[in-house]
Amino acid sequence: MKILVTGGLGFIGSHTVVELQNKGFEVIIIDNLSNSSIDVLDAIAKITGKKPEFEKLDLREKEAVSAFFKKHTDIAGVIHFAASIFVNESVENPLLYYENNINTLIYLLKEVSARKEMSMIFSSSCTVYGQADELPITEEAPVKKAEAPYGNTKQIGEEIIEDTCKVYPNLKAISLRYFNPIGAHETANIGETPQGKPHHLVPYITQTAIGIREQLLVFGGDYDTADGTCVRDYIHVVDLGKAHATALERLLNNKNKSNYEVFNIGTGKGSTVLEVISSFEKVSGQKLNYKIVDRRPGDVTAIYADTKKANNELGWQAKSTLDEAMDSAWKWEKKVRS
Ligand code: WQD
Repeated sequence: MKILVTGGLGFIGSHTVVELQNKGFEVIIIDNLSNSSIDVLDAIAKITGKKPEFEKLDLREKEAVSAFFKKHTDIAGVIHFAASIFVNESVENPLLYYENNINTLIYLLKEVSARKEMSMIFSSSCTVYGQADELPITEEAPVKKAEAPYGNTKQIGEEIIEDTCKVYPNLKAISLRYFNPIGAHETANIGETPQGKPHHLVPYITQTAIGIREQLLVFGGDYDTADGTCVRDYIHVVDLGKAHATALERLLNNKNKSNYEVFNIGTGKGSTVLEVISSFEKVSGQKLNYKIVDRRPGDVTAIYADTKKANNELGWQAKSTLDEAMDSAWKWEKKVRS
């Protein structure tokens, strides 16, 4: 079975391609290389022994999307990662985010809904919940007004897919709402490669430790949490890749209960920023240079997943600990800089 992975050269996409190939799927990747490198193709082949098919394509080009699907009539499923992903960038440039995250989804849906049968996995995010009233957070928690256009594009994206599935019974879809993906493949052949200054915590930690960044700034030490720093649910990116493969198999094997479903993909455990830092110091054996400064606008105090639905219904469970994920992130950083 051939599976299309859009944005498959990215951080989560590449780890998902590895898990799909490990399960015997044939994979074709499309990516516009705006936030990824073509070298990831060979890196994936080094891990799995199979180089995925690849076509450089920008999903904003409607005709190119249509031509792609005319050419590839043997696609059984799509995992859709391709999107702009930075919260603060989305605040500064909302139209870029609505064009790149919404228009592209509509062009993709027009193609897949026209197929006799199609299974689709959508890369959604825990940002759709905003600051939850209750923790851990379940899929039934109310979706709140997004703090930024990025999160709004995920909310709107889920609604567009749900509405499309209602009128196209041949289309089955699952939205995976993930929490904070971190770490890298154990071979250190693929990992998180932020372009420029990292937005996210873990690459900033490893770049500080290796000497690229002077000091990690911890955004806020006065939150109502165990140690005053924000709580997040940090999930190993390999566990996350496996979740995508498991969700796709659920649809291909007709195990879904309805033709649109949603699952939280997290570990179910919350960790504060300081706990992440001490995990890093433990696995790396070195002290990290950091300073607690003012809060970052838009950050929620705490969020972590209730994973019962994914564990019991999807049959997926995160396996890696925070220490294992931090160790893999550190190994990746050292490999990239070697
Ligand atoms: C984590 C914590 C920061 C950097 C993002 C996206 C979200 C999802 C997951 C895709 C926060 C603190 C960070 C730094 C810090 N992505 N921090 N110093 O914002 O929880 O979620 O990734 O679906 O949509 O928004 O991740 O890694 O930026 O921050 O103190 O230099 O680390 O304040 O508490 P975030 P993050």
